[in-house]
Amino acid sequence: MENDLRAFWMPFTANRQFKSAPRMFVGADGMFYKTSDGRDVMDGTAGLWCCNAGHNQPKIVEAIREQAGELDYAPAFQIGHPKAFRLANRLVDMAPEGMEHAFFTNSGSESVETALKIAIAYHRARGEGQRTRLVGRERGYHGVNFGGISVGGIVNNRRHFGALLNGVDHLPDTHLPEVNAFTKGQPEHGAERADALEKIIALHGPETIAAVIVEPMAGSTGVLLPPKGYLERLRAITKKHGILLIFDEVITGFGRLGSSFAAEHFGVLPDLIVTAKGLTNGVIPMGAVLTTAAIHDAFMTGPENLIELFHGYTYSGNPMAAATGLATLEVYQEQGLFENATNLADYWQEAIHGLRGLPHVIDIRNMGLIGAIELEPIAGAPTKRAFQAFLDAYEAGLLIRTTGDIIALSPPLIINRAQIDQLFETLAGVLRALD
Ligand SMILES: Cc1ncc(COP(=O)(O)O)c(C=O)c1O
Repeated sequence: MENDLRAFWMPFTANRQFKSAPRMFVGADGMFYKTSDGRDVMDGTAGLWCCNAGHNQPKIVEAIREQAGELDYAPAFQIGHPKAFRLANRLVDMAPEGMEHAFFTNSGSESVETALKIAIAYHRARGEGQRTRLVGRERGYHGVNFGGISVGGIVNNRRHFGALLNGVDHLPDTHLPEVNAFTKGQPEHGAERADALEKIIALHGPETIAAVIVEPMAGSTGVLLPPKGYLERLRAITKKHGILLIFDEVITGFGRLGSSFAAEHFGVLPDLIVTAKGLTNGVIPMGAVLTTAAIHDAFMTGPENLIELFHGYTYSGNPMAAATGLATLEVYQEQGLFENATNLADYWQEAIHGLRGLPHVIDIRNMGLIGAIELEPIAGAPTKRAFQAFLDAYEAGLLIRTTGDIIALSPPLIINRAQIDQLFETLAGVLRALD
């Protein structure tokens, strides 16, 4: 067994721990995975925040089968195929008012790089080529490529990889447990954290800054919600100074908060929206960057036979991914999954806050069908307690995700009340037994 597992260098994994005690999924259906030792494990995390329609969804499976037999691949550059256009239209139809174009990628990380490049090139196309600086946020996660880790704010994702991009600043994060702990939904305190942007702008001059990128709700660093009024302030400040606002909606897109996008949920319209994951239910890799007409149209100048944006991927909008995306969006609509997330949000909120008072629980946060339980770290051994909870939950039949000492939950949007009860009963048992 040990030899069998040696070649695969697993991503974001404690490889040696894993290979000494592997956890293998060999099947899936709806809300559950099947393990190699024949157990059902409830998916409390929609895979990696992506399988919003649940697993092995029949319509999605069928669409992939059909597409593979019809058109497997078409060149992405200078040639089209109908489904990519159809999917782009569907996406802009469901996106907040003002988003009118979609650029396809293959992952969240690629969508981030694409959005940052479009932002810088947009200013240049308008004769403001000096606007190259980027602003991200502490504890932000924007994937793993160089642009993304430069604007991102997770220390371990940055410290091992050299100098990163020049000209990047970071806003402070919005995690204020001293004043907001155990808030149900959006926290009251912290909107003024957006004002740090004014200081960054004053330091460098607004004419040097291309874009600000934030997750409207930070997922990967433990579900850090935007305080009331915070996103509105960011929007007002960026607008005032001609700076683009990019929302990284890789997690919050496609119904996680009940709306198609968090931009709609919070009523704040950015200039670009970064997506991936739920776009294809996580089944075939695909991402997309949505932009306003103003951004797109700024490139549509010059001779018509020339390429306007020197960017793209071999697999941008490829037929298999496009067919999967179309089927996924249909399933979301036909099954009313975003409405299900909205309808269950209060039940989910009460259920997760029912864990308050259990050993080591120092904060609980929630919104839509997303939640986090923050644990007191073991002195001198940060992350160990939550990782133990992850291992114990897996044994108890529940997949959770941990980041630092925070447990994050984001089930498929097909979940029902009985399954929410099952999820939190299992998790409560795990927490009670933790050292
Ligand atoms: C907000 C955000 N941006 C970007 C990414 C990167 O996506 P991918 O892993 O598909 O490259 C993630 C992944 O979790 C994410 O949560």
